[in-house]
Amino acid sequence: MVKIIKKEVLTPQIKLMVIDAPRVARHAKAGQFVIVRINEEGERIPLTIADFDSEKGTVSIIFQEVGKSTIQLGELNEGDHITDFVGPLGKEIEEKNFGHVVCVGGGVGIAPIYPKAKVLKKLGNRITSIIGARSSDLLFWEDRMQSVSDALYVTTDDGSYGEKGFVTSVLDRVIQKEKIDLVIAVGPLMMMKMVSLLTKKYELPTLVSLNPIMVDGTGMCGCCRVTVGKECKFTCVDGPVFDGHSVDYDELLARQRNYLEEEKRAVENWLM
Ligand code: FES
Repeated sequence: MVKIIKKEVLTPQIKLMVIDAPRVARHAKAGQFVIVRINEEGERIPLTIADFDSEKGTVSIIFQEVGKSTIQLGELNEGDHITDFVGPLGKEIEEKNFGHVVCVGGGVGIAPIYPKAKVLKKLGNRITSIIGARSSDLLFWEDRMQSVSDALYVTTDDGSYGEKGFVTSVLDRVIQKEKIDLVIAVGPLMMMKMVSLLTKKYELPTLVSLNPIMVDGTGMCGCCRVTVGKECKFTCVDGPVFDGHSVDYDELLARQRNYLEEEKRAVENWLM
């Protein structure tokens, strides 16, 4: 059992929770994730660690209420408990000075891009960040991203805030005028695919962080498998960070759609 010590509504659908989890916080590194189970009957929800404080023993998670389990998680409040909070899982990102790193965060992917930008900034990298969302009501943490970036660009698809358009348009512009050593992208699968297609043209090393359906999170069920460079990888133990140019996005996009009907029914039943 872990306790929720702070809850913040970042946007109507996106919530932040600070969890009292000293053992997870002590070992956490940027890029890793946790698996959350609200109660005994709960589904396992993989969530990338958005921030952690090893001294205070806290771990921050951010989630968008898109399915039954995330809606149910969002209904919990400060002082409530979560049955399972397992982690840190997966591999951390390589922590070194690459030079100029462009961090791209889309939608709720802004949460997992933040700790990566933060640790790489601390190591002396120059950080250019590009964050975007469908509209202004899905944007959050502009201030935090600003605090770990040398330059920050903000986009919305509908132009309701920042520059109108997609993060890839800004990335293309930055590539045209600056030398870049590494691009890291986290967000919807389609966004990571488009970023990877763009950077491949320029032969820019690119990392993406995948978030497929998971069950155990320890490499046993095979549920999170993904094809990377023609090899079958398990996201939970081999990732979640992979070479963006080698991921088979189309296969993963098709697999993500497998349970859409069931997910829709589960939400309807929960809200009834
Ligand atoms: Fe089961 Fe990765 S979640 S193998």
